[in-house]
Amino acid sequence: MANVGLQTKHLLSMADLTPAEVCALVERARDIKRAPGSAKPMQGKTVALLFEKPSLRTRVSFEIGVANLGGNCIYLSPAEVGIGGREAVSDVAQVLSRYVNCIVYRCFAHATLVELAQYASVPVINALSEDEHPCQTLADLTTVLEQRGSLPGTTLAYVGDGNNVARSLGIGCASVGIHYRIASPDGYGLTADDQRAIEAIAAANGGSATFVRDPREAVDGANVVYTDVWASMGQEEEAAVRREVFMEYQVNPDLMAHAAPDAVFMHDLPAHYGEEVPHGFLDGPQSVVFDQAENRLHAQQALLEAIFG
Ligand code: CP
Ligand code: NVA
Repeated sequence: MANVGLQTKHLLSMADLTPAEVCALVERARDIKRAPGSAKPMQGKTVALLFEKPSLRTRVSFEIGVANLGGNCIYLSPAEVGIGGREAVSDVAQVLSRYVNCIVYRCFAHATLVELAQYASVPVINALSEDEHPCQTLADLTTVLEQRGSLPGTTLAYVGDGNNVARSLGIGCASVGIHYRIASPDGYGLTADDQRAIEAIAAANGGSATFVRDPREAVDGANVVYTDVWASMGQEEEAAVRREVFMEYQVNPDLMAHAAPDAVFMHDLPAHYGEEVPHGFLDGPQSVVFDQAENRLHAQQALLEAIFG
């Protein structure tokens, strides 16, 4: 397949990709998984992995993906850079742009990512911010495609916090004609602005978006049930309160019984056992979470190919 061309320079939000680009990237990721190519479009290219938070999947899958495409990575930990503290964001962006060909950035405030991209002359990829996790969504949609053979018409129920993962996933599902349902406790759902934006994208692309409080209502007859942690990185102090608030939102066999009989279970990981999922649930017959984790590699390789191909 010909390389996917992208209109956007940076990938900060799922909304930076057109629906056609999302579909093409996800199909390309599936094809790379089936038949990894030998092309090296990143020969001589270097990627800075600038991480303010820990990571297993994102860091390792980017390092491997870049290497597969012939490039190399430099990992920069929070302690090394001190972005916005030791050095201004704008200066970090301009200095890194003189050395590397792409910046993959995991941050706290989404505004810092936007500022970095504003001053960087090389592409910036969001590796998770407080607002969005688009690389995760590309892998998630690849997983749904792999499981179901096509995306439009699928019903995906997300149960839990209206966080970065839920927001990117909502935009991504809406872009490809998936019916996205999300159940969150009062005060922890996606914002009214998010809801309007996702509804508008869904309406234009044959999907739909439903925002409810009751997990069973969201999961009823769904093809995919998805959850994420109740307290994200940076919300550790809220964890105890959130455990109380989200108690009814655990995805377990009782809740899965309301989904379609052949429904699959997804989680971006890491999981907090005993909270959003019971112990052992990720190893159960409906779980595709490790395929989903693997697909981070293929989806990001499709993305890097689109940028460097
Ligand atoms: N899902 C995900 O982004 O995992 P890491 O935090 O380990 O990168
Ligand atoms: N919502 C989680 C996702 C982790 C990959 C977090 O931000 O910590």
